[in-house]
Amino acid sequence: MSNIPDIKWLASGEPYSEQFQDYYFSTDGGLEETEYVFLKQNGFPQRFIQSTDHQETAAIKIAETGFGTGLNFLVTLYHWLQTPEPKKPVHYIAVEKYPFSKVLLSRIYTLFSEQWPQLDEPCRVLLDAWSDSLNPQSVFKCSFFKQRFKLMLLNGDAQQELSALLPQHKQSIDAWYLDGFAPARNPDMWQQALFNSLYQLSKPGTTLSTFTAAGFVRRGLIDAGFTINKIPGLGKKREIIRGEITV
Ligand SMILES: C[S@@+](CC[C@H](N)C(=O)[O-])C[C@H]1O[C@@H](n2cnc3c(N)ncnc32)[C@H](O)[C@@H]1O
Repeated sequence: MSNIPDIKWLASGEPYSEQFQDYYFSTDGGLEETEYVFLKQNGFPQRFIQSTDHQETAAIKIAETGFGTGLNFLVTLYHWLQTPEPKKPVHYIAVEKYPFSKVLLSRIYTLFSEQWPQLDEPCRVLLDAWSDSLNPQSVFKCSFFKQRFKLMLLNGDAQQELSALLPQHKQSIDAWYLDGFAPARNPDMWQQALFNSLYQLSKPGTTLSTFTAAGFVRRGLIDAGFTINKIPGLGKKREIIRGEITV
C-alpha cells in the first residue's frame, strides 16, 4: 500500500485527509489548539528552562504519534527559540506513516507563515532540511541550532515503530503528543499495544496529552499505567486528556 498521503485542499488552503476523512489540525485556530492541547498540558515552554547553569544537560525528549504537517513540531520549536538561555536541548521523535513531500510541505508552510508569521523561521529551517526520500521504515534525522534541537522522524506505522524503539529508548521519553486523527476514524493509532509501548518508553514524571477524550482511549492509557485526567477543551472541543506517570 502507498505511503503517499491522500489529501484534498480546503477552500481555506488547508490540507484535509481523504483517506481518514479528518482534519490535520483545527481549521479554527490550529496554532492556539496546539499550544493549549500539546504544549500547555505537557508543561511547555516552562520545562525547557534549565534549572542550573550546567552546560552539559540531558535533552528533553518529546515524542509524537502522527507528525503530519509538522505543526506541533514547529510550534514547539518556536517556543523553545523564545525560551531564554539557559535552556535544555530538545530531542523530538515523531512517527508518521504517510509523510508529506517537500512540495506539499512548502505549500502548507506558505499558508502557515501567512497566518502565523512567528512560525516563519521554524518553517524555513524544517523545509530546508526536509528529505523527499522518506521511504517506509526509513528514519529521517536532522538537527537545528547547533544541534541543540534534533528531530528524528520514523516513517512507518506508529505501533510497529514505537515497539522497535523500545530497546534503545526504554524509559526515556519525557512528554508525548498523541495526535493520530479521531480514534473512530483511525483505530490503529489508539490500540492497547501502542498504549503499552508508550508506557514502556516512559518513566516517572513523563506526561502526555491528546485532543481526544474517548472513553476507550482513557481506559487503555490507564490500563497501560498512566494517571489520566480530563481537562476542558478549547473552542468546540468539550474535553481533552492529560496524563502522567506519577512519581
Ligand atoms: C491529525 S494528523 C497529525 C497532525 C499533525 N500533528 C500536524 O501537526 O499536522 C494524524 C497523522 O497521523 C498519521 N497516521 C495515520 N495513521 C498512522 C499510523 N498507523 N502510524 C503512523 N502515523 C499514522 C497521518 O498520516 C497524519 O499525518
